[in-house]
Amino acid sequence: MCISSCSRRRGLVIILLLHLTAAVYGSNYFENFDITWGGGRGKIINNGELLTLSLDTTSGSGFQSKKEYLFGKIDMQLKLVPGNSAGTVTAYYLSSQGANHDEIDFEFLGNLSGEPYTIHTNVYSQGKGDREQQFRLWFDPTADFHTYSILWTPQTIVFSVDNVPIREFKNLERKGVAFPKGQAMRLYSSIWNADEWATRGGLIKTDWSRAPFTAAYRNFGYRAWMPLHLDSSINQAKLRWVQRNFMIYNYCSDAKRFPAGFPPECRA
Ligand SMILES: *[C@@H]1O[C@H](CO)[C@@H](O)[C@H](O)[C@H]1NC(C)=O
Repeated sequence: MCISSCSRRRGLVIILLLHLTAAVYGSNYFENFDITWGGGRGKIINNGELLTLSLDTTSGSGFQSKKEYLFGKIDMQLKLVPGNSAGTVTAYYLSSQGANHDEIDFEFLGNLSGEPYTIHTNVYSQGKGDREQQFRLWFDPTADFHTYSILWTPQTIVFSVDNVPIREFKNLERKGVAFPKGQAMRLYSSIWNADEWATRGGLIKTDWSRAPFTAAYRNFGYRAWMPLHLDSSINQAKLRWVQRNFMIYNYCSDAKRFPAGFPPECRA
């Protein structure tokens, strides 16, 4: 019957649990990231506990993870550029390489002092994006650090903020929608100037007298996804609360963009 296969299965469970424990690793930025551009405008400080990226008139800056990930949960605490950040964009995303790349994006579009940031999200699978959803936040993201997470499993992608899910992109391959699951991705972040388009379509220009603009990162965490993980069930009530009250743009309601009909995932 199942004597040998059961014990084999039990052995597998134990191995997976060990692997899971081993896969939880901490937030030392020296160990996990490389500053990749910006001529010194990106810095790892406090013994590797804090990373900062800056933008001035000459350049922005960016970093990337040393490792590539295939599924898992990624957490990062960010404190966004305070004050008049209009025209600046801070991006934080997973991406694979090449023309048919996959990508899971958070972008934070700055604003005038006291005006709200826009949280822009997108998902690319096999080179195809055009799946933007944008949100406001229920707090000031420049006053303190907050946790921005990406849960990526073969079934779903969940964006969350302080553990509140804001967006879910489900695997709908059965409806012919490509889903990112065959290419490992690196984690990237960067800050740059986008005042040709970011703030009210380019009407508001970056105020360079406020430069350098600096965003800060701490407490990076990665937990590998395992087939036994059941934590991909998300709090649907919270997700609906965010989508109802804080979503300011949804490609799935932008009929002008899709005159021939919405993409299949919008009709799911
Ligand atoms: C900046 O704030 C204004 C006023 O609330 C808002 O209409 C605009 O969308 C915001 N811009 C960005 C880039 O978030």
